[in-house]
Amino acid sequence: MTTTNRFQDKVVIVTGGANGIGQATMLGFAQEGARVVIVDLADRGEAVAGQINKDGGNALFIKADVSNADQVQSLVNTTLDKYGQIDILINNAGITRDNLIMKMKEDDWNLVLRVNLSSVYQCSRAVVRPMMKKRYGRIINLTSVVGLAGQSGQTNYAASKAGIIGFTKSLAKEVGSRNITVNAVAPGFIKTQLTDVLPAEMVQTTVQNTPLGRLGEVEDVAKAIWFLASDDAAFITGQVLTVDGGLVMQ
Ligand SMILES: NC(=O)c1ccc[n+]([C@@H]2O[C@H](COP(=O)([O-])OP(=O)(O)OC[C@H]3O[C@@H](n4cnc5c(N)ncnc54)[C@H](O)[C@@H]3O)[C@@H](O)[C@H]2O)c1
Repeated sequence: MTTTNRFQDKVVIVTGGANGIGQATMLGFAQEGARVVIVDLADRGEAVAGQINKDGGNALFIKADVSNADQVQSLVNTTLDKYGQIDILINNAGITRDNLIMKMKEDDWNLVLRVNLSSVYQCSRAVVRPMMKKRYGRIINLTSVVGLAGQSGQTNYAASKAGIIGFTKSLAKEVGSRNITVNAVAPGFIKTQLTDVLPAEMVQTTVQNTPLGRLGEVEDVAKAIWFLASDDAAFITGQVLTVDGGLVMQ
């Protein structure tokens, strides 16, 4: 593994780090010197962490449900016991349970709000104290262009992602004086297991409506996250950085 030192000695928690955008983000942090904690429900996080350690990086996998307050406190305690600090939190875990409002079950509404939005509250709340003590922190939340523009069939998902934007701005105001920045990244259509299930015509229409004429790769989003986590973004907080090839312009 080639290492540069942009994130040397930093400790990074990436939720949903076993797949997709989270995995790509976490690999880059590890390659640039960070100690990474992959939090995921999926067992594959173990193999992802194992490969990083084999390649000379430093990774720990913690299997946890980020929407569960006790499990979140426990994963933060485990991280602090092992590394003594938490510098960067990437709130990336997310799910969809799409349906038209008339058919949307309350369970699917509640689940999406809990996993996508309440988890951001749980994880942020648990890391803010150690960050405040250190007078340093970076929190980056994955929202979506759907949270900005809306999407038929995704009222639950869009509400959770729009909620993340309000949360991001509010927390940025609350903790800025302690040198903690809080920002959001809003991906457009990115090729992952989350979007693999969408109908081909929908994919085609999206590409046609995207000025840059293609779907996004996970690395496109990861690069924006690394920027916001780096010293280059030290004076940026409370912002939403859209990474969508120009699909949604506001
Ligand atoms: N892929 C896209 O086009 C796209 C677009 C906009 C926003 N996003 C957002 O980016 C984030 C990552 O998306 P992705 O496409 O990489 O998804 P993905 O499905 O590939 O990965 C998400 C990961 O989160 C994990 N996860 C789900 N629920 C969890 C829970 N309760 N606790 C812990 N881990 C959990 C999953 O196991 C999975 O590994 C999500 O928040 C998603 O809403 C994605």
